[in-house]
Amino acid sequence: MTALAGNELLPGPVLLLGAPGVGKGTQAQLLVSKYGIPQISTGDLLRGNIARGTELGLKAKAIMSAGLLVDDEIVNQMVLHRLQEKDTHRGYILDGYPRTLEQAKFLDRTIADPVFLPRLPVIAISITVSYGELLRRITGRRICPACKHIYNIYSNPPKVADVCDLDGAGLAQRTDDTEPVFVERMKTFEAQTAPVVAHYHDLGRFEEADGNQSVEAVNIAIEQAIVKLRRASC
Ligand code: AP5
Repeated sequence: MTALAGNELLPGPVLLLGAPGVGKGTQAQLLVSKYGIPQISTGDLLRGNIARGTELGLKAKAIMSAGLLVDDEIVNQMVLHRLQEKDTHRGYILDGYPRTLEQAKFLDRTIADPVFLPRLPVIAISITVSYGELLRRITGRRICPACKHIYNIYSNPPKVADVCDLDGAGLAQRTDDTEPVFVERMKTFEAQTAPVVAHYHDLGRFEEADGNQSVEAVNIAIEQAIVKLRRASC
């Protein structure tokens, strides 16, 4: 499969990398609408397990509340399972994965296996935002538990406080969106995920997007990076 089927660009596997709160989820939702490919967020998959009270959810809950990472083996198997679903055949947005070098190597091996469609290499986009702005974004984030739309009380508030504009559900705040847990998540990011960013930088097919701009401006930068990287990888 090539990146240009007819005249239509096949996004293929797209990695959105970056620290907690840089806007990976916000941008992934925009790319889902633009390209009609799924967002695969390991954080959302883990939170889904917690909400359903599964054995995995019970294990993950304490780890996530401490700002640490869930075991590579658990997360890799979760992603492997998800990549076998048919909606991934034109591409997908990986949001929050890979987060360790072990996960990155596992993903690289998995995608290279010809049973997985689309047979295109990953392209990686790293979003960067200053520390103070990350803290503001994390503590101001609110999420609709029904449709998962992401709001921010400072930069993107709902029309009516604490109510989703799209379906009227009451908005929720993630339990790890407090300043003390954010500090731990940032330490974890620097120690375990910054090397993943370096790994994809060194592989090529990598761009950085300045996330200290409006959501729309970041989206334009990411879409331009996708077109550039995908054309170069044909
Ligand atoms: P996860 O859910 O992946 O959290 P994260 O990576 O810390 O990222 P966030 O979801 O907090 O932020 P985001 O970048 O998506 O920002 P958003 O778009 O929402 O992981 C949670 C936990 O699960 C981890 O700590 C770990 O324990 C576990 N986990 C997950 N994946 C794992 C893995 N692979 N391996 C092991 N463990 C794993 O935006 C944030 C806010 O900013 C929003 O309010 C938004 O409205 C606002 N905003 C966005 N863009 C802008 C902008 N341009 N201007 C102004 N405001 C903006």
